[in-house]
This record gives sequence, C-alpha cells and structure tokens, in this order.
Amino acid sequence: MPAHYPFGLEPLPYSYNALEPYIDAETVSIHHDKHLKTYVDKLNAALEPYPALHGFSLSQLLSKPELIPKTIQTTVKNNGGGVYYHNLYFNSMNTPWDEPTENLPVIRALLNQFGSLDAWKARMKKHGENVFGSGWSLLVLDPNRRFQVVPTPNQDSTLPQGLVPLLPLDVWEHAYYLKYQNRRTDYIDAWFHVINWNAVNNRYVGQMLLT
Ligand SMILES: [Fe+2]
Repeated sequence: MPAHYPFGLEPLPYSYNALEPYIDAETVSIHHDKHLKTYVDKLNAALEPYPALHGFSLSQLLSKPELIPKTIQTTVKNNGGGVYYHNLYFNSMNTPWDEPTENLPVIRALLNQFGSLDAWKARMKKHGENVFGSGWSLLVLDPNRRFQVVPTPNQDSTLPQGLVPLLPLDVWEHAYYLKYQNRRTDYIDAWFHVINWNAVNNRYVGQMLLT
C-alpha cells in the first residue's frame, strides 16, 4: 500500500463480523468499503492535478494545511483527515479483546497519568458524547510526550497542533446508527471492548522512540 499518492484502500485487518456483538458486520462493511473508500477516492481526485504533492505522506499533507493549494485545502482536510483517522480506527480494533495488561508500556503510562483506566475511559466517553454532530474523541500524544484526550469535529486533523493520534473513537452516526440508532453512549461503551491494545501500544512505543 503506497504511503503517498495514489492512496489505496487499506484492507480490513479482520473479517466484517470480527467485532460482533459490539459492532455489527453490516456497519463495519459499509463503514470500510463505502465511507472510507469514498474518502480515499476523493482525496486522490483532489491531488491528481498537483504532482508536486504526490510524494508526500498523509501525515505531511495534514500537518501543514497552509501549504496546500487553496483550491483543494478543504477537500484534502476533509477527505485526507477521513482516510487518516479511519485507517487508525480500523487498525485499533480487533476481536473482543482480553483486559489490557500492565505488560504493555502504553497501559502503564495511561495508569501513571490518569490514575486508572476507568478515569481515562470516562474522558474518552465524555468527549465522544459531547461532540455535536460528527467527529471524533481522540487519545493523542502532545509535544511533551504526555497524553491528552481531545475531541475534534468532522475529520479535522490534530497534527497541525502537534497532537499525534494514538487511538481514535469515531462518533459519526455512520459508525453506529444501524445497530445503536441514537444511542451513541451504548456504542461508545461497546467500543471499549474491541480496542486492540497491542496495536495502540505499538503506535505509542513507535512515537516515544522518535524522541
Ligand atoms: Fe467513520
């Protein structure tokens, strides 16, 4: 899968029904094969006339939006952000997972900063519930290598603020409406059961080794 233009549709790392009963197969299928595919196609279409941008990674394109030509700034922000967050989202889940273990550095660091996993979960949940309309609740690493939990509207990237997403919770209605209808809170509670902590840990360790 190229890390630059033309961006591809990353395959799901599990079967459509792998997240049952927490997230249903039809939602996963439409979310990945239709919604994510649309973001990928629209991002590529926007970048196609600009060969000077074809060598850059998604992180680079999203980190400095002011350097993107004005005519495609919004399209790259929305669809590039969509591709970035959804690739992270789908790669942050797995078959209902065992309880996270303190053998993982990211768990020890979360416990150290938030006191308990329940305290961290409460923040993720609060931001997820409070996003008005569409958006995300995000666990990020800030420039001081500390965790923050922040909301972001639509597909707006936190990279320009130096906040690197480690674990994104999608609270767009398309992520939950088929199974949960208006019960966003029930979806959020279910999502905590399918977090792939090994994947989150790999991301965390990778970021920490950069500094
Ligand atoms: Fe989504």
